[in-house]
Amino acid sequence: MFSALSNKVTAILGDHSNSVETRLEEVCRLLRDTIPYYDWVGFYFRNGDKEELKLGPFAGEPTDHTTIPFGKGICGQVAVSNQNFVVPDVSAQDNYIACSITVKSEIVVPLFKDGENIGQIDIDSKTIDPFTKADEEFLEFVNAEVSKIL
Ligand code: SME
Repeated sequence: MFSALSNKVTAILGDHSNSVETRLEEVCRLLRDTIPYYDWVGFYFRNGDKEELKLGPFAGEPTDHTTIPFGKGICGQVAVSNQNFVVPDVSAQDNYIACSITVKSEIVVPLFKDGENIGQIDIDSKTIDPFTKADEEFLEFVNAEVSKIL
């Protein structure tokens, strides 16, 4: 599943007739529509020099959490740790920001540009414990491809 998807991601991101914003949104939609346990897919980016994340393109239900301070929630923790964060069961997390009570699990993978953590891709799932190493590797690939067009 992931190898066929990877080609589509590269094709979407390489389509210069669309804005970067539109291409990122298409990638979110592709992932959400194709992977059964991806229920919300979005990018957060660092807000200028501020120690906070701002929501970028996404697919799924709109969220109230369009700004997240560094350190807060899973996303805010990844902004400072520079590490993937896989949460098999969100109810077991203290430092977690709930977007919807239907969300059971989450994965956040940082996005680097020239070695600097400038944002992340965030996936929410209604399935408990669905993410494997293959998801991490795929999302790292997606972020590396996105980084090339930023
Ligand atoms: N759950 C995230 C907040 C963002 S929403 O999932 C879209 C967190 O704890 O950082």
